[in-house]
Amino acid sequence: LAAAAFSAGAQDFPGSKPITLIVPFSAGGPTDRVARDLAEALRKPLGNVTIVVDNAAGAGGSIGANKVAKASNDGHTLLVHHIGMATMPTLVRNIPFNVENDFEYVGMINDVPMTVIGKPTLPANNYKEMVAWVNQNKGKINLGNAGIGSASHLCGMLFQQALGVEMTAVPYKGTGPAMTDLMGGQIDLMCDQTTNTTSQIEGKKVKAFAVTSPQRLTTAALKDLPTMQEMGAKGFNVSIFHGLYAPKGTPAPVLKKLNDALKVALKDPDFVKKQEGLGAVVVTDNRVNPAEHKKFVQAEIAKWSPAIKAAGVYVD
Ligand code: MLT
Repeated sequence: LAAAAFSAGAQDFPGSKPITLIVPFSAGGPTDRVARDLAEALRKPLGNVTIVVDNAAGAGGSIGANKVAKASNDGHTLLVHHIGMATMPTLVRNIPFNVENDFEYVGMINDVPMTVIGKPTLPANNYKEMVAWVNQNKGKINLGNAGIGSASHLCGMLFQQALGVEMTAVPYKGTGPAMTDLMGGQIDLMCDQTTNTTSQIEGKKVKAFAVTSPQRLTTAALKDLPTMQEMGAKGFNVSIFHGLYAPKGTPAPVLKKLNDALKVALKDPDFVKKQEGLGAVVVTDNRVNPAEHKKFVQAEIAKWSPAIKAAGVYVD
């Protein structure tokens, strides 16, 4: 009887029960921004269901991911996560879930380039002057991130390797709060996604030195920033993908409805305008395909694992 009721539920999913999008970082950061924009765009294709965003931050994004891995598989608790899904398997020892087996892959959302930014009082007005300042202040530099395994942590790791200078990592529960401290001068530098940095760069609340994509960006506030590769960091290419996930065992009819709604949401003109105005690139249909989504994450796990192991980085 319960199975019949459950499958009936699957048929008329989502019904009137709200959907919760879990964001594994603090409010006000880039992941939160993607989730809130996506919630707006998903509402209509999901029959005007209420969609709430719940920030379950901590442990580099693994606390929020675990919450969804352990949630009911009725399709009403979903995860918006980023590249962390591909780095946690290597970074988080004793990880309480399996990225490949404990989730259903609903589809990709976007790719977001990153920017290297500094506190407004940093005495440098371009990349070369910033590098000179870094070399004059070795051992005294605070680099903000959102915890081990976060996008800002990974980019920060590669940034330090590119400069050959070790900096002190200052972890936050998201780059939203980290940005507040950077603007206040409590930390010196950070590598963060354009969805979080574009408006601060436009408002001259932080200094901007480079972008992490292989090509320069077209966003007005970012177009004059050199790429890390132009500045000599060979092969430097960091772009943060975001995807939508459900707990393993979510019924196929529910996953189909979620995937169909995601495809519609990613074409919502308002969603595209908001995201692309902040330097993000919304994915095309072929990458919203669940099988392609899972294959992409598996390839990213293989890509990042050696770099993380070589850096000897992990979190218990
Ligand atoms: C956030 O949403 O706070 C960031 O994506 C965290 C990070 O740097 O990964």
